[in-house]
Amino acid sequence: VSKTRVAVLGGTGYTGRELLRLLARHPSVELVAVTSRQHVGVPVGSVHPTLRGVVNLKCESLTAEQLAERAECVFSALPHGVSMEVCGELLKRDCRVIDLSADYRLRDPNSFAEWYGMSHRDPEHLGLAVYGLPELFGREIQEARLVANPGCYAAAAILALAPLVSGELIELSGIVVDAKSGVSGAGRSPQAQFHFPECNENTFAYKPGTHRHTPEMEQVLAQLAGSPVSLLFVPHVVPMDRGIFATTYGRLHGRYSQEDLLELFRSFYAKAPFVRVRDEIPGTKDTVGTNYWDVTVRVVNGRVVVLSALDNLLKGASGTAVQNFNLMYGYPQPCALEP
Ligand SMILES: NC(=O)c1ccc[n+]([C@@H]2O[C@H](COP(=O)([O-])OP(=O)(O)OC[C@H]3O[C@@H](n4cnc5c(N)ncnc54)[C@H](OP(=O)(O)O)[C@@H]3O)[C@@H](O)[C@H]2O)c1
Repeated sequence: VSKTRVAVLGGTGYTGRELLRLLARHPSVELVAVTSRQHVGVPVGSVHPTLRGVVNLKCESLTAEQLAERAECVFSALPHGVSMEVCGELLKRDCRVIDLSADYRLRDPNSFAEWYGMSHRDPEHLGLAVYGLPELFGREIQEARLVANPGCYAAAAILALAPLVSGELIELSGIVVDAKSGVSGAGRSPQAQFHFPECNENTFAYKPGTHRHTPEMEQVLAQLAGSPVSLLFVPHVVPMDRGIFATTYGRLHGRYSQEDLLELFRSFYAKAPFVRVRDEIPGTKDTVGTNYWDVTVRVVNGRVVVLSALDNLLKGASGTAVQNFNLMYGYPQPCALEP
């Protein structure tokens, strides 16, 4: 059986490492290239010692033309703003692209410019992009040439709110998303606030109401609700390597019990292999190293509180990206993602 030829851009970062690990164990994937600027010629196993003997490729610097000759499908784990420069060229050459950066998540290039502080350099392909949450857009992802993989916080928040806004159970303004992330959420490049003595034994909020995942959450939830959604999102960094814990709050329109809402979540996600609706409150450790999103629901004084956890590098990034790849190529969704 022929395998799908796959390349990973930005393979020396954290999400790149997770992509390579997953793709190396995928029975229908042939990894054909890994790119980097700073480690050209260096074996992947030297950059990521966990992949020594697992991925036997060297990092390369390749043009879009060279990539398109080798690969049918390209995962981009590049920073936003950099990714679209390459992805646009790959799409012109008939590659299918799964972009982990934010470059194709927002439909409106003006909104991208406003939130990301730069003009979009590949607006012609924005219309092709399918938002890569398999639990919500699985059918569209199957046909997609370009998948815009969700932001890590956005994945948790959208999954938590989708059953509630789709069913018109909560008010669409005044939704609150409070989420905590491990430090790997910021990527591998050193930054002072993520230096060990700064973030160890420390917890802090940042960008309240102005984090860039806000418009992505509002866009997707508005699409599901059929009318505008406004929310307040406050992210936090907590001293752990990986994992996101998200708490979302919404005001219920009617009287619902906790059991009613758990049942709603169970039926909404009945066909989603990586959603586990639980009675008890999950913790990040229940999901780290897996592609699961674990969730439970509580009702308090007319409000619904959704409590959920995922691994930012897997269900929040590379795991979902591989799940999208499986949908695009007709492989079973859990392929290479089994715990
Ligand atoms: N970390 C997460 O939890 C997470 C979750 C969801 C989505 N994402 C998104 O996924 C993408 C990758 O994230 P990451 O956390 O894996 O980042 P990272 O660890 O910082 O890795 C970035 C990669 O891009 C390469 N790169 C190429 N051009 C670059 C440039 N101009 N500036 C900096 N790096 C450049 C780097 O390698 P060289 O320097 O060798 O070129 C490196 O391989 C980002 O767009 C991020 O927003 C991350």
